[in-house]
Amino acid sequence: MMNSSKVSRRNMLLGTGASLASLAVQGSAQAAAKPATPPAGERDPYPVAATPDQVRRMNWWHEAKFGMFIHFGAYSQYGRHEWAMETSAIPLAEYKQFPREFKPKPGFARAWAKLAKAAGMRYMVMTTKHHEGFCNWDTKLTDYCATKQGPGRDLVKEYVEAARAEGLRVGFYYSLMDWHHPDGARCAHDEEARKRFVAYTHGLIRELLTNYGKVDVLWYDVSWPLDAAGWESEKMNKMVFELQPDIIVNNRNKLPGDFSTPEQKIVAETGGRAWESCMTLNDSWGYQRADDNWKSARTVIRNLISCVHDGGNYLLNIGPRGDGSVPEESVRILTEVGRWMDGNGETIYKSELCDPRRSNYASFTRMGNTLYMHVHFWPGGDVAISGLRVKVKSARFHKGGQELKVSQDPYRVHITGLPAEAPDSPITTIAIECDGEPKQDTVFVRNNKPREGV
Ligand code: GLC
Repeated sequence: MMNSSKVSRRNMLLGTGASLASLAVQGSAQAAAKPATPPAGERDPYPVAATPDQVRRMNWWHEAKFGMFIHFGAYSQYGRHEWAMETSAIPLAEYKQFPREFKPKPGFARAWAKLAKAAGMRYMVMTTKHHEGFCNWDTKLTDYCATKQGPGRDLVKEYVEAARAEGLRVGFYYSLMDWHHPDGARCAHDEEARKRFVAYTHGLIRELLTNYGKVDVLWYDVSWPLDAAGWESEKMNKMVFELQPDIIVNNRNKLPGDFSTPEQKIVAETGGRAWESCMTLNDSWGYQRADDNWKSARTVIRNLISCVHDGGNYLLNIGPRGDGSVPEESVRILTEVGRWMDGNGETIYKSELCDPRRSNYASFTRMGNTLYMHVHFWPGGDVAISGLRVKVKSARFHKGGQELKVSQDPYRVHITGLPAEAPDSPITTIAIECDGEPKQDTVFVRNNKPREGV
């Protein structure tokens, strides 16, 4: 609720009347000179506030905040990252053994969905086809697919059923770039090849959005080697919305779509433009057995807090092995994140744009006039916030609700009498009730806090 009103309020402020289409029509020479979309993963330089239709379609997503990305394909069988085929220049004749050996165990998707749910995630986005070109579903358009190779069954179907069984929303990742299809590169300079490849691509997307019931997210990726005109992206999106009127799409088919996709970094959009930061748990999207550079649960939670602080979502990846099993480290981290979310989730899901951000041991989210101080480096004894420009009425531990001693002068909010050890792990959340929307001004503190002579 809170969120939908947040979105519509933001839109009203920004004069949401303007839809993408009408903006384009009104667009002068100046607008025409601007690129339609930023490069994948970059901040949109010309943010456009959500249209009423986007607000309607995206409401669940803004409230969901946290999703699971899953990179799963024949590369999972090889276990050397989803780009292995290209970065090691593996000949196709050699690579083709992986789809044949790829045999996920029954129930693999159900285990992912349970893990996602337990971690506090509310949607999933699985690779239906990655750059390698292998299709995880039962397609009529190629033999290079799950039903006709090693798996011998429709993995997309199992994934969709698993997500639904756990009450999670369903997203499909789809790579436009294709290293397997004979026209996948040729399409750039051969018009007949382009036409064939675009028909193939639109055909695959049509199957995905026709055969699996309601799909909530379509997550395009890498548009090399064509531009929006070459991919016929307008026509592509039109088909998508005809087949799935409630779906949301990202910006990686060279059109703005519904949301931006900063990758491996947290870069907030402005002006009411929706965004989702996607990130790996180690340094690889697809299973890479030797990659042990895992993020801690604390880092993951801090990232999630940073995203929702600025109105964004966090899509966090797992890279299961070829048999569908999730690396134990990923399970351990996500389980720890889930334990924290069980006690603190509402400070995330219901959060609104939040102003205070300056601290070296805590980060913040906000719900109405309540400021949540998420202390990740517990200093012991007392904590303080600088430059809070509202009156604080009370403070308590979010978990357990214990009242805390708080005092305030014009510069500092000071919470004292705290235990030496952090009461919660890996982050302790303190709820601070204010008499208005919490705003922070640390420059005011620097300028005005009384100084003393030398
Ligand atoms: C990049 C990579 C790809 C990965 C994606 C996730 O575009 O090419 O491997 O799937 O990012 O955002």
